[in-house]
Amino acid sequence: MELKKAAAERAVDFVKDGMKVGLGTGSTAYWAIKRLGERMKEEGLNIQTVATSKASEDQARELGIPLIPFAEMGRLDLTIDGADEVDGRLNLIKGGGGALLREKIVATNSRRLIIVVDESKIVHTLGKFPLPVEIVPFAHEWTFQALDQLGCRPQWRMNGEEKYVTDNGNYIADCLLGRISNAEGLNQKLNMIPGVVDNGLFVDLADTVVVSHSDGSIELK
Ligand code: 5RP
Repeated sequence: MELKKAAAERAVDFVKDGMKVGLGTGSTAYWAIKRLGERMKEEGLNIQTVATSKASEDQARELGIPLIPFAEMGRLDLTIDGADEVDGRLNLIKGGGGALLREKIVATNSRRLIIVVDESKIVHTLGKFPLPVEIVPFAHEWTFQALDQLGCRPQWRMNGEEKYVTDNGNYIADCLLGRISNAEGLNQKLNMIPGVVDNGLFVDLADTVVVSHSDGSIELK
């Protein structure tokens, strides 16, 4: 928890008065949102935000952080979000918290994407973390089969006995790939399958990665 907090708080230093900021999702992004709320109180920081999940939206609302609707977000100055894996090219796996679609839309609409992680998320090659793929409910069994035929080894994400449902009303299949040698190619292949809404590969989207280390240091990549 302390490592996640340290990386998140460092990233919030990049937020300046008047910015439009994308709020990520997850236990690391949580600390960034909390720190933004503190800075608003301490310094009168004036920002507008867009949240990538209902959970982050609720947190922002509780802290009195102004939220703008997606339709009016325009181009954001900065988004701060977590990740499940980060490779040496700053490509990412995201979506462990199920918010990958809104996260990718918000990241793509941001001038700068800052990713906040502790050192455990840094990998040589992506793929050990199961890759989330968001799938529309219509004919989802067929889409699942298509993923299987591609060699993705999909597994439905469950919420007890039921399939997990995203904020967008879709399902998630987590793909046990082990090793992703061509993230860009796989990203394209997956998104070409009818029924796949998007997947958790974020290729060429992150601009800066803030990594907190157990020795107390913070590294900017
Ligand atoms: C949610 C995400 C999260 O950013 C990712 O899962 C990392 O989460 P955490 O900070 O809790 O480890 O992509 O969809």
